[in-house]
Amino acid sequence: MKARIAGTGSFLPDRILTNFDLEKMVDTSDEWIVQRTGIRERRICAEDETIVTMGVAAARKALENAGIDASEIGMIVLSNSTPDYFFPSAACRIQRELGAKNAFAFDLAAACTGSIYALELAARQIETGAVKNALVIASEQLSAVTDYTDRATCVLFGDAAGAAVLTGGETGMLGSYLASDPRNWEALYAAIPGKAVMNGKEVYKFAVSAMPEAINRVLEKTGKTMDDVRWLVPHQANIRIIEYVMDKCDIPRDKVVITIDRFGNTSSSTVMVALDELNAQGKLSKGDLVLLVAFGAGLTYGAVLLEW
Ligand code: ACO
Repeated sequence: MKARIAGTGSFLPDRILTNFDLEKMVDTSDEWIVQRTGIRERRICAEDETIVTMGVAAARKALENAGIDASEIGMIVLSNSTPDYFFPSAACRIQRELGAKNAFAFDLAAACTGSIYALELAARQIETGAVKNALVIASEQLSAVTDYTDRATCVLFGDAAGAAVLTGGETGMLGSYLASDPRNWEALYAAIPGKAVMNGKEVYKFAVSAMPEAINRVLEKTGKTMDDVRWLVPHQANIRIIEYVMDKCDIPRDKVVITIDRFGNTSSSTVMVALDELNAQGKLSKGDLVLLVAFGAGLTYGAVLLEW
């Protein structure tokens, strides 16, 4: 049995922070941000929005899209790198709001690669029959750890949540590759309490080698080539990183999902939100191969290959 995605959902706060808004906050310009990152605007939580409210909203949409009731979910895994409580997990708080009374729930911290890790863990539970249906959520409030006086980081981040319901099927996740390389973890961190600290150049260098490696490894493991892949859903950290990967792996532009211009970097939510956008727009057909790939703090990286 394979684990297939039966439904997706996402949530983006209504509040928009544009590059022009940031021009008034720090010494930057719309031109610099667009040229160096590809970002035009990002969403920011309102006072009453949290990783839990965003996660619940995205999860409800994914359940509805899958036609599965919350009570049928056996496992909830929440990818998050901006926790608001030491304990309990945000996953348990989301579980209560959803009424998913037959699930076990926990948070997973693998930064921007978290949804890739979470999809892999959930898929294994389904493949072994331990769980019938699983809910994978990514909910990230980067605005809570962003220093809005640091122009090098504050232009990058936004808030969002994405979710997917996994269930058993004849086709689904074909393979995965997960890795972490902690030698240079200080390149990107947020201490408690504290704000995100980043060595942009180091992270950039890591990203442009880690993403192609993860793509090639998952293709090798599954015996597929990039020609077989219909959609590449890369982590949205910087458009230049995505373009570099497209170039290095010889991936045409029309196979690549881009959301960074509208939502910025929302950590592990980026790939889930982009996947939901593809699904909602009816761009996924049965049999399409979809490759999700990400990198992040840790430094973590990984990829999963799905057959839709
Ligand atoms: N506006 C204007 N100027 C700026 C800004 C800004 N917002 N930020 C930096 N600059 C200046 C710098 O001070 C520097 O000026 P100097 O030459 O006088 O010293 C100049 O622009 C060039 O700075 P660089 O850091 O060399 O700019 P670079 O082209 O490397 O872009 C960036 C910086 C966008 C951060 C890039 O390095 C990057 O995207 N790195 C990867 C970041 C990343 O992916 N992080 C998250 C990954 S994990 C996760 O998703 C949580």
